[in-house]
Amino acid sequence: MSSTPAPRIRPRRLRETPALRRLVSETRLDPAELVLPIFVREGAVAPLPIASMPGVVQHTLESLPQAIEEAAAAGIGGVMLFGVPEVRDARGSGATDPDGILNLATRVAAGASAGRLVVQTDLCLDEFTDHGHCGVLDERGRVDNDATLERYTAMALAQARAGSELLGLSGMMDGQVAAVRDALDDAGHRDVALLAYSAKYASAFYGPFRDAVESTLEGDRRSYQLDPGNRREGLREAMIDIDEGADIVMVKPAGSYLDVLADVAAASEVPVWAYQVSGEYAMIEAAAAHGWIDRTRAVIESVRAIRRAGADVVLTYWAVELAEWIRKGDAA
Ligand code: PBG
Repeated sequence: MSSTPAPRIRPRRLRETPALRRLVSETRLDPAELVLPIFVREGAVAPLPIASMPGVVQHTLESLPQAIEEAAAAGIGGVMLFGVPEVRDARGSGATDPDGILNLATRVAAGASAGRLVVQTDLCLDEFTDHGHCGVLDERGRVDNDATLERYTAMALAQARAGSELLGLSGMMDGQVAAVRDALDDAGHRDVALLAYSAKYASAFYGPFRDAVESTLEGDRRSYQLDPGNRREGLREAMIDIDEGADIVMVKPAGSYLDVLADVAAASEVPVWAYQVSGEYAMIEAAAAHGWIDRTRAVIESVRAIRRAGADVVLTYWAVELAEWIRKGDAA
């Protein structure tokens, strides 16, 4: 007779068969809660691969409709557009030009989508400024918060006119949500919604994105993006943006900030999204390319973890491929 009493409580019972595991799963994935970021390059004649993001390209205006078609066919919830202009200047003029690359791409995407998915746009100046910062600079070379708000409101109107349904405010200027909301409402764009990148950290994981948009930035964004060590501040930023009228708040990056995501998800009255950024993508792709991890499982696990921590929607460069796995039943 064994001296150890048999355990009465056995959590393993619910892990015994695939059917039981499926039944008790707490976090399921659905294509509708995935958003694909898309880059569109001005002047490109063919889609250009991005070296640090294998599988991701800079689209042309001509290749964009096909990308939208694939996204819609995959059943994902939306796309987030980024423009890569040929010419940049100190004010980021291309951002507010109706014929600037992002605004042109928005028109094309909205037409191609025809309401099947939500066309969203990045609202930030960094792709359009020659110094690469998210705002305009003052005479001492610092990012001028309030002067930048004027550029953001003009950019918001240009994006709304181009047909963007959801503006992604990613610049981390104080007061940007309220300023853009007021400007849109005054111009009659009351239905255009705002996604606030509320807790956006000054992260090394944006590295490959800077290749993707051919960033000219020297220095860093630490005077406006959050310090990676600050958890409470992430929640505070989200609460401020909700007060200012954000329709959705976001935490970014995702994988290294699950605690912040969980805090915001617990406190927020509006949907909470998370952005699985370029470096998170590149790390898994690179390790998988070496045969060091199982690519499919790592992708699924990384996105499930972000959902489990509290994200209602995940922006991910794997959105279309992952949606296909989900539909085939491979993503459980
Ligand atoms: C700013 C912006 C950035 C990303 C999205 N919007 C770059 C930054 O703040 O440096 C990064 C996204 C990614 O790394 O995938 N327009």
